[in-house]
Amino acid sequence: MKNLAVAGTGYVGLVTGVCMAENGHNVTCVDIDEQKVQTMREGISPIYESGLEELMQKNIEAGRLHFTTDYQAAYKNAETVFIGVGTPEREDGSADLSFIATVARQVAESIEQDCLVVVKSTVPVGTNDKVEQFIRDFLIKDVRVEVASNPEFLAQGSAVKDTLEADRIVIGTESEWAEKVLTEVYTPFNLPIVSVNRRSAEMIKYAANDFLALKISYMNDIANLCELVGADIQDVAKGMSYDERIGSKFLNAGIGYGGSCFPKDTKALEYIAKQNGYELKTVKAAIDINNEQKLALYNKASKRLITFNGLKIAVLGLTFKPGTDDLREAPSLENIPLLLKDGADIYAFDPVGDKNFAKVYPEGKQENGSITYVTSPEQALQDANVCFIFTEWGEIKAVTPTQYKDLMRTPLVYDGRNLHNIMEMDMNGVEYHSIGRQLIKSAKGAVLA
Ligand code: UDX
Repeated sequence: MKNLAVAGTGYVGLVTGVCMAENGHNVTCVDIDEQKVQTMREGISPIYESGLEELMQKNIEAGRLHFTTDYQAAYKNAETVFIGVGTPEREDGSADLSFIATVARQVAESIEQDCLVVVKSTVPVGTNDKVEQFIRDFLIKDVRVEVASNPEFLAQGSAVKDTLEADRIVIGTESEWAEKVLTEVYTPFNLPIVSVNRRSAEMIKYAANDFLALKISYMNDIANLCELVGADIQDVAKGMSYDERIGSKFLNAGIGYGGSCFPKDTKALEYIAKQNGYELKTVKAAIDINNEQKLALYNKASKRLITFNGLKIAVLGLTFKPGTDDLREAPSLENIPLLLKDGADIYAFDPVGDKNFAKVYPEGKQENGSITYVTSPEQALQDANVCFIFTEWGEIKAVTPTQYKDLMRTPLVYDGRNLHNIMEMDMNGVEYHSIGRQLIKSAKGAVLA
């Protein structure tokens, strides 16, 4: 059991803290927001994440998990300080490291014993060398301090499981001491540990995320071609997935990837490459394809209709993926402003993301149209002229072709997540447009391409 402190209680920080406590460590999570800290002390999670609150409550009760705004007290006796603060994207695509710098300085001014500082946040390659130097420059006590890189691979919606049952733990260190300390922290997790140098660890995070972003963009690119040549992207993906070298995951074409990682990390790596005089053509292609893909359905519908003005539009799904209330880089945020500008009256359904969306677009008149939040897909579809599907929530998947047909004024559906069977939709009189799939009418009737 070690005394650990965790800086930042966002997705990465909070999940790390809770999972460290679950593995027997004594953990203090630090955040500057007094009210947030108070709520977390009561076992209430500030983020929607399956299984997190239960583990928070369990470990608070066991006396292993604490929350504070008093960073000095938390860092003073910590053997290891994890940094999980955000590295938001600057306008030029580079990472804003000011939160890391603030924590690094606080750590330097607080620690009174040897301490390993572990950076979980995604940072440009080479940053942790600078963080280490920065901490040493500001140290008050004569103690040993080193910085390790320990990138985080958790996905929102499955963050706890991804952490407790991770495929691997990547640790990047520059000394045997640091490697030993961090290995000991992770020993109770009983997971494969990949131990490399610090810069390689930093690079692994970007390379892994950008590879997945590329995989999705590649499928979206192929999906667009499938539409032109009369192939079906889901069948194509299925045929590809049996090849173990390709695998079955992240082959779903759709309305483009969103979230806090892929959009940010692709732009950041492209920026890092540019800074080094190199053009990262693959990642640039992923970014370009994704930007276009987010508006693929809007553009299709714009061509099909004279105008969206005065139309009742059902929007099913607002978050960037199911299982989260997060809207960052969600396709809905690209499409809804355009529809509002065009004068559409939007009826939006999302089981958890509506409250966050309403903070940006409050209910009522917006631009030339309006937005209303409803609590079921049926309410959104009632009398609608058009339906857009942006997120694959179970409730939305469960809508039947008959419901679209019966509830909508004109059953015209644009599905960014390929949720429904094309033939069933067609047979029930729904005009259905999805991604990379189309109905081929043969002499014998409707058959799937
Ligand atoms: C991702 C990585 O999975 C995680 O390892 C990393 O640490 C952070 O970024 P996250 O952004 O939470 O996690 O979600 P993820 O499930 O990876 O989905 C990202 C986006 O890709 C979503 O918008 C999703 O809809 C999209 N996606 C995913 C597809 O369009 N097709 C797919 O096949 C898979």
